[in-house]
Amino acid sequence: MAALVLFGGGGDLAMRMLLPSLYFLEHDGLLPDGLKVIGAARSDETREEYVAKVRQSVEAKAKADEAWSTASWDRMAARLDYLAVDATSAESLKPLKDKVGDGACTSFLAVSPSLYARIVTAMRAAGLAEADDRVVLEKPVGRDLETFREIDDAVADAFSEPQVFRIDHYLGKETVQNLIALRFGNTIFEPLWNNLSIDHVQITVGETVGVGDRWPYYDEYGALRDMLQNHMLQLLCLVAMEPPSDLDPDSVRNEKVKVLRSLRPVTHEEAGRVTVRGQYVAGTVEGKSVAGYDEERGEDSDTETFIAVRADIDNWRWAGVPFFMRTGKRLPEKRTEIVIQFKPVPHSIFHGGDPGAVQANRLVIALQPEEDISLSVMNKRPGLDQRMRLQPIQMSLSWGQNDKSASPPRRRIAYERLLLDALHGDSTLFVRRDEAEQAWKWVDEVSEAWRGAAFKPHDYAAGTWGPPEADYLLSRTGRAWNSGDA
Ligand code: BG6
Repeated sequence: MAALVLFGGGGDLAMRMLLPSLYFLEHDGLLPDGLKVIGAARSDETREEYVAKVRQSVEAKAKADEAWSTASWDRMAARLDYLAVDATSAESLKPLKDKVGDGACTSFLAVSPSLYARIVTAMRAAGLAEADDRVVLEKPVGRDLETFREIDDAVADAFSEPQVFRIDHYLGKETVQNLIALRFGNTIFEPLWNNLSIDHVQITVGETVGVGDRWPYYDEYGALRDMLQNHMLQLLCLVAMEPPSDLDPDSVRNEKVKVLRSLRPVTHEEAGRVTVRGQYVAGTVEGKSVAGYDEERGEDSDTETFIAVRADIDNWRWAGVPFFMRTGKRLPEKRTEIVIQFKPVPHSIFHGGDPGAVQANRLVIALQPEEDISLSVMNKRPGLDQRMRLQPIQMSLSWGQNDKSASPPRRRIAYERLLLDALHGDSTLFVRRDEAEQAWKWVDEVSEAWRGAAFKPHDYAAGTWGPPEADYLLSRTGRAWNSGDA
């Protein structure tokens, strides 16, 4: 019988995301028959204590989503087991191997990445890295290309590449997959998906939360390594990649790697023009006064909590089409979106040729707070005006438009899709080693380009969209960030 082992099974990620995801999969009848789920962590507790703790966390989440059922919980509880282990010791992992038995084992490392190398080495010695076994690695793997390679080399000593599942939870988000459906399940977008029709692309990941007590981790990483290296570059890849020949993991990932390889390196000379670093100071978010990053941390730091970047992809499709990306903590709203800004009409026949009368089409792929894909198109304003007047309308391309009477499907946790895929051995939505390496390479160049006092982060008040320099990044080229009001 197959087993899923959650290293760090009592930690924040497991309790908040992984175990609730497993419950929802159980509730929907999607977990493989007979799968055992084994929590493995340092704390010395009994199976009963662990199950009670899991129930508390799962029940609250399931009730909030109106998906709680004691029958589903009982089925899930029957799969659960717990073992106190020191995951870095092969000796300590032997009883875990006994619990797992002979079936295939998928191990999810929901622990500090600084332990990954030692854990996989111990797993190998304990027989938990056999040919049928898999390992799932949560980000961040390393903090630059060199440390990524150190960790990944240890992983590669224990597991072959098809057995390794590097998670980027953004790839598990429904709308991200819908982007693939939109691009390659329709004929109307792809002919326009290039520098002939698209003016630029924007990717925004805005968060209202601050860094809070995560600063020991965050201070070493900053927004560049915490968000841009992974989530945002993954989104960029899915927008920019060539059509893969099928959805086979390697077909998709080959195309993503090509995009990463085509990213123009950011040089020290250029960095001031194409990147903006910011750090929040005290301000007001959602009506509440909040402290600045340095106050939370207790001393001054040069870590960026905001980054805006202009990325250029040097290939035929995207030559001359900038990709503007921004992400930050303590912004005014939680908003994640990809904006495809089409070019203006080449010549306006309306309002005596006033170009402002015709707004260029814009496709907005919203991931958060709501999932939605909408296209703005110009329309005639109804009426008998002597001169035809136009107005933009938003066409929603989301599934709900088809059947307004149906209640929308429950919004899934991104980890549900990814756990299921890892259990089935499908790595299409996971990051391959060369992808992660290319992403680190580009990010290392950015961070190297930031040397010197001129690249200290600019202050921005919590509750604003970053420092004004982030607006200049676009306004200097006659463009503006999507305000989200349209
Ligand atoms: C994580 C980052 O990977 O993603 C966090 O470490 C960030 O800093 C989080 O808050 C954002 O995820 P989501 O799904 O809420 O956009």
